[in-house]
Amino acid sequence: MKRLVTILALVLLAACKQEAPTAPAGKGPPPPPPYQMRAEAPAGDRLAAGRDGKALFENHCGSCHLAGGMGTNLLTKQQMMAGQPPEKGLLANRTDMSPDYVKAVVRQGKMAMPPQTRVDITDAELDSVASYLGKAK
Ligand code: HEC
Repeated sequence: MKRLVTILALVLLAACKQEAPTAPAGKGPPPPPPYQMRAEAPAGDRLAAGRDGKALFENHCGSCHLAGGMGTNLLTKQQMMAGQPPEKGLLANRTDMSPDYVKAVVRQGKMAMPPQTRVDITDAELDSVASYLGKAK
């Protein structure tokens, strides 16, 4: 009886053995989850005015403010509690913020959002991002 139990236990253990997951041959590592995504940095001088605000936003703010980011997740909840549709959780869909408001939040931070220094995003870059996001007067 004891031997039978031992054999059964070994059979069970062998059945539970799992292979480590491997990437399909030649395909490289799997893509990062969406909340880690942000766009490539656009080319150009970081201190020069007039660069593409959308591209700069997607690079500097995208890891939190594109779909699936923690900023988007928190703001979606806030917007829905204020009676807005969930799409308003994406800053790019907002029409109620002024450029000055965007700049103030970025430099000072707001609740769960940490302040962004001029190393994170230069004044010239922030001007472009603020005029892209700040659709209200
Ligand atoms: C580390 C993640 C993170 C980064 C990077 C980040 N944000 Fe945020 N942001 C947040 C979070 C989280 C909130 C929501 C704060 C709260 O209410 O708790 C937020 C809120 C905001 C708000 C306020 C929206 C409102 O309804 O009042 C603005 C504007 C904003 N972010 C702009 C930006 C811009 C522009 C950038 C890039 C320069 C940026 N954020 C980068 C996390 C981030």
